[in-house]
Amino acid sequence: MKGIILAGGTGTRLYPLTKSISKQMLPVYDKPMIYYPLSVLMLAGIKEVLIISTPRDIAGFLSLLGNGQKIGMKLEYAIQEQPNGLAEAFTIGESFIDGSPVALVLGDNVFYGSDFGSRLLESAELKTGSVIFGCHVADPKAYGVIEVDDEMNILSIEEKPENPKSSYAVPGLYFFDNKVVEIAKKVKPSKRGEKEITAVIEEYRKNGELKVNIMGRGLAWLDTGTHEALLEASNFVEAIQKRQGLYVACIEEIAYRRGYITKAQLVELAEPLIKTEYGKYLMDISTERNLQPNK
Ligand code: DAU
Repeated sequence: MKGIILAGGTGTRLYPLTKSISKQMLPVYDKPMIYYPLSVLMLAGIKEVLIISTPRDIAGFLSLLGNGQKIGMKLEYAIQEQPNGLAEAFTIGESFIDGSPVALVLGDNVFYGSDFGSRLLESAELKTGSVIFGCHVADPKAYGVIEVDDEMNILSIEEKPENPKSSYAVPGLYFFDNKVVEIAKKVKPSKRGEKEITAVIEEYRKNGELKVNIMGRGLAWLDTGTHEALLEASNFVEAIQKRQGLYVACIEEIAYRRGYITKAQLVELAEPLIKTEYGKYLMDISTERNLQPNK
């Protein structure tokens, strides 16, 4: 399975913060926002990732993450000229996807939870059809919303509905088989002028090829769409890291624990950062005797 991180858009809701830098480059506590979705794909066992961003911002991501080799990944980059909608990720990424199944994660989605790694690994085994997630939220109006029956069959999916049919929002993480490119090509812009991801999902649903994984209370899915939400996400990550002494979305740690890089490579990554808590954490991990399970 391959992965795409969609990290474009205008970020206007976060002006003036995003007037000259990408939203997905803003800090969520101690690391750039894009580390969080990248860590999700890494936890899913995906090693080939395409990062899509704007003509203005793509160079910043390349300078931050390079070709990914240092963390045992293969990262490629592509430009989305205009924010025409999430479904465009699959047409822009057509040659990268190259007939493989693909996971899409939005560059501004932050997840954290017990056993999340195993659920991701399971979803990434998908060969046909699609898998999306459902998260209970207080205000579903701002998201894609699913309606499910008692057997967890999805009856409908609506983008930002005025009158949501449930409290289950669809977070920005989707797994599709290789039909997604052809499906995305046929999506027409919605009333708000975007090629909606919900239109792609609806096509899978109609064909009986959509599975939803409802995420329980143990999983936190955080928003970063407003200044308040961004601060709350930072505070959440700080609280978890300080209390547990384990980092959220530490891409170097995941690379090491998943065996993508050796201990010597981890130390090499930690050395230039050694004056920071982040660097010290990496160094501590390299000397840890009993590796913890990476869920
Ligand atoms: O966060 C989950 C929600 O994401 C889903 O529940 C919705 O179904 C889905 O449409 C999306 O809704 P948003 O209102 O959050 O989408 P937004 O326009 O904010 O875009 C999400 C991210 O994708 C954001 O970081 C900007 C980026 N983006 C967006 C568009 C429209 C792009 O890179 N290119 C685009 O064309």
